[in-house]
Amino acid sequence: MMSAVMENAIEVTGLRTHYGQREILKGISIAIPRGKTSVILGGSGCGKSTLLKHLIGLLRPTAGKIAINGRDIAAMDEEELNRVRRKMGMLFQGAALLNSLTVAENVALPIREHARLNESTVMIMVRMKLDLVGLSGFENFYPSQLSGGMKKRAGLARAIALDPELLFFDEPSAGLDPVTAAGLDDLILKLRNVFGITIVVVTHELPSVFTIADYVIMLDAGEVIFSGILDDLRNSQNERVRMFLERRPETKTYSPDDYFRFIVGD
Ligand SMILES: Nc1ncnc2c1ncn2[C@@H]1O[C@H](COP(=O)(O)OP(=O)(O)OP(=O)(O)O)[C@@H](O)[C@H]1O
Ligand SMILES: [Mg+2]
Repeated sequence: MMSAVMENAIEVTGLRTHYGQREILKGISIAIPRGKTSVILGGSGCGKSTLLKHLIGLLRPTAGKIAINGRDIAAMDEEELNRVRRKMGMLFQGAALLNSLTVAENVALPIREHARLNESTVMIMVRMKLDLVGLSGFENFYPSQLSGGMKKRAGLARAIALDPELLFFDEPSAGLDPVTAAGLDDLILKLRNVFGITIVVVTHELPSVFTIADYVIMLDAGEVIFSGILDDLRNSQNERVRMFLERRPETKTYSPDDYFRFIVGD
């Protein structure tokens, strides 16, 4: 029997994880809607990258379920997990291109690894992906000959080389100028609109959030403090959500006495 397409591509329940003795994710439950762009927000060190690594099966949780298309990857062996991973693309922070390979060879890497195709077919696929990200003509360039934004695009071409169902980005616009970052946002929108890919983006950039997000998840110290659509985010009364949106630093108010003690000591 054919199962109906599930509304959520990913469902995480009670996810806990530790680095040594420190609990980093403290029982997270989230749902990632299919065919939409979900953005994961939160301050530095709150566990965003750690969560992303669990979603792609790079890390195993201490407890909890991570269901991709209804099947728990936390309980899978490596072989099964690799089959699921084939449906996923990931753009790591810094693009992670291999410097000794040309742009075309970098993009061809996952294709060669996962599919047995003749050379001309591989090159047609590579050209299509490079064209999609606006890098036609740069096939034979090496990563060191590209700008930061072009590296991100090349990394994206590689991430979508195998036509993934699910695409993950960790801080795609970090270190890019606003115009280049906006170009990358357009590309993310295009991938969702044209190909219906389910996209998960970790980002700090608020302009980007309001451009690309259909759905927002906000973490704070390893816990979910918000999940919902943009309108609900804008109207949230949660103090920590408001602080983040209004870019308010975590301030403690000091009295003159505090300053005095600070300078002179108790
Ligand atoms: N491999 C590791 N070993 C030990 N602790 C780690 C490891 N990776 C991350 N951590 C810790 O886990 C916490 C969450 O890290 P994570 O990288 O998920 O944060 P983040 O939300 O992505 O932060 P940023 O916005 O700065 O990228 C941090 O306190 C970090 O010090
Ligand atoms: Mg991170």
